Amino acid sequence: MGTVSITQLKSGMILSADLIAPNGRFILPRGACLTSRNIMSLKIWGVAEVSVSDRSDPPREDGDEFLYSTSVMEEANDIVLRIFGGVPPECGAMEEIHRVAIREAARSLTENEAGHSGFFRSENAPLSEASLPKPSLEQLAAAEVRFVSFPDVYFRISEALQSPKSSITHVADLISKDTALTATLLKLANSAIYGVPAKVDSIQRAAALIGGKALSILALGVSAVQTFNSIPSDWVNMESFWRHSVAVAVLGQIISSRKHSRIIERMFVGGILHDIGRLVLLRHVPSVMNRAIAAAAAEKIPLVDMERRILGFDHGELGGTILERWGFPRELTDLVRFHHSPGEETNSFPAAALSMADTLAAALRQGSSGSPHPPSISDEVWKMTDLSPGALDSVVRQARRQIAEIYSLFKGGDDDGKTGAHS
Ligand SMILES: [Fe+2]
Ligand SMILES: [Fe+2]
Repeated sequence: MGTVSITQLKSGMILSADLIAPNGRFILPRGACLTSRNIMSLKIWGVAEVSVSDRSDPPREDGDEFLYSTSVMEEANDIVLRIFGGVPPECGAMEEIHRVAIREAARSLTENEAGHSGFFRSENAPLSEASLPKPSLEQLAAAEVRFVSFPDVYFRISEALQSPKSSITHVADLISKDTALTATLLKLANSAIYGVPAKVDSIQRAAALIGGKALSILALGVSAVQTFNSIPSDWVNMESFWRHSVAVAVLGQIISSRKHSRIIERMFVGGILHDIGRLVLLRHVPSVMNRAIAAAAAEKIPLVDMERRILGFDHGELGGTILERWGFPRELTDLVRFHHSPGEETNSFPAAALSMADTLAAALRQGSSGSPHPPSISDEVWKMTDLSPGALDSVVRQARRQIAEIYSLFKGGDDDGKTGAHS
């Protein structure tokens, strides 16, 4: 048949040559039979034309969509469209996110599972920016650093992390003195994140397994969550907030584990703490955030854009600054700082993976940190994540169980993925 434009491609067509993206990345081998998912992914990779043979197989679809009835698929489609404010996907990356989210919504509808959308107080009063307090990033960061008091062990671990002389044994000894921290870290070491076949029953073994630095980063992250969790808030649904954070941590960690396995802990802790700046905003300037949430909902835009408009900075920048003052390593503070602007980080992969995980968590209805609609992912950001076409299916499949497992670990109870729904 020869070379055809991707707009003319149909599922069932067979490639007559290896398919290589304009950036040189190998996509599919000669002889591969195209599926509708492949065709959609080609747009993301900027492929304009494809060589196909005269022969073709019967049209192929990607399996499990056919497990669901048309009415279920329509309902699932409506759910996902509502999540994105009624805006249909505008690029290949978003088409792919919609596709996996619709399939996941169809699955949860069929299995009678509730979504975890979240609930945040907001006032529908008109947004009068002139009457709102406008604290600077600096004022908020200073107030929060004074406000939060970490346990002693936190500062000792932070010190050890910054000292080139500190050994794995020293870090393990420090952590072992705190029983609550030790218990959570051991559960994490035994969770699906590490997939270790033998039981990890001591912090010393956990340290040997994942390394002293990684364990220290995990310990700081867990301490921060424990500290924040104990502060009550009238404005935030904390269950929904942490479910979102855990989902982003798990998804980010899975996305990065495929090619960048050495940054698992950074991705995990970065995911858990990525929206901590928003928690600070909701706590210190609830009136501003209330109006911002209502205005973002009315304009059908992500809350992060409204924050920038009203405050002149976003929760990522604030969170990154606060974590820096708390002694978190630079690689982690930058990840949090740039999670809504991944192109600005020197090494764009971690922030891009976290950005993708953030939008995906919202699309999969795994909690909320207050944004009425998640930010879109551009094809540019997709490319930074290095995800292969169609890879999101297995990312989502893998994440499903892990999110429930890790969330229950932080919540301190059982969670089968069907409780704690907020609509
Ligand atoms: Fe965020
Ligand atoms: Fe988020």
